Amino acid sequence: MTRHPFDCDFRVTAEQKIQFRRDGCVKLDGFLNEQVLRMLRDRVEVEMQRETVNSTTPALYRVKYGVEGDKGSVFELLARRYFRQTLTDLTDNDLFFTGEQIFEVEQNADIGSTWHVGVDSFGYQYAEEFGCTLWAPLQSVNTRAQRGGMAYVPQHVISGEWVFEQIEPALVSTLRAKEKAGIKTSTVDYVSMRHGVLNSPAMLEILESHRVEDDFEPGDALLFNKMVVHRGVALEEGPLARRAAYVMRFVEAGSRYDLQRARNLDYPTQRYRTGLFAYKPLTRKPIEIAEAGAADGDLISECAYFGDPDRRMLRREQHPERA
Ligand SMILES: [Fe+2]
Repeated sequence: MTRHPFDCDFRVTAEQKIQFRRDGCVKLDGFLNEQVLRMLRDRVEVEMQRETVNSTTPALYRVKYGVEGDKGSVFELLARRYFRQTLTDLTDNDLFFTGEQIFEVEQNADIGSTWHVGVDSFGYQYAEEFGCTLWAPLQSVNTRAQRGGMAYVPQHVISGEWVFEQIEPALVSTLRAKEKAGIKTSTVDYVSMRHGVLNSPAMLEILESHRVEDDFEPGDALLFNKMVVHRGVALEEGPLARRAAYVMRFVEAGSRYDLQRARNLDYPTQRYRTGLFAYKPLTRKPIEIAEAGAADGDLISECAYFGDPDRRMLRREQHPERA
């Protein structure tokens, strides 16, 4: 069989599997080869030219929540045996690819440094179901120099499970109760309550003292599940003007659509007529899945919202003992 340019000899180790199970995250050195990096850098370049880039602090920090371009080359990467085996082995799940994002930070940008979990990015599936992110910086991250990477807290220290399962639904019911009592609420109330949960003085102290921040070379990636509490780290003074990261999201293959969760995320848009950002809000994606025809409990992999379902699926290989 001819070797595909994206093929790579990367193999998961037993230690990495243990680490992912224990910490909810693991760094994968040399996971993406030069050809993949070239493809991703081209992708970032093209996508960042499009108009819908979100720039909350103009020209400082750019986020592209939905990559619009043709997914052919990304699907080719997903089809590589090493890629599929690594992700399914580490997570012990068949996985469904739900989308890509691009985060680009500029030198000295104030990126807010807020701790969070993937409640927006995984706002379409039931809280208890598995979801994970592959985060790949396209330039080096040196924690003793310019930094600009990612800080996270291993989930055996703190897990964001309670944010998914309890805080998210409670945010909306709190706002509803205030409105019922005649107290006017706004997007600001929603955002500050949401932000405050993981960024209160006590939580900040705990999270900062347990934070892990890794070095990365282009090609290295971090795989972390949706419960891992994390935050971006600013790119400090140095030769690198920008650092872009390419992000892929996956959910377990049998994951189901959670309409109530999607509605909760859409609450600020419906109630205040604006989302978290001025452009099409990130928090609309989960409800768009329903608008594309999905009902509560539908298999995410069968929702019409996601095209090319077969190419998005990463299945484990059948081992004789599993067959
Ligand atoms: Fe994040």
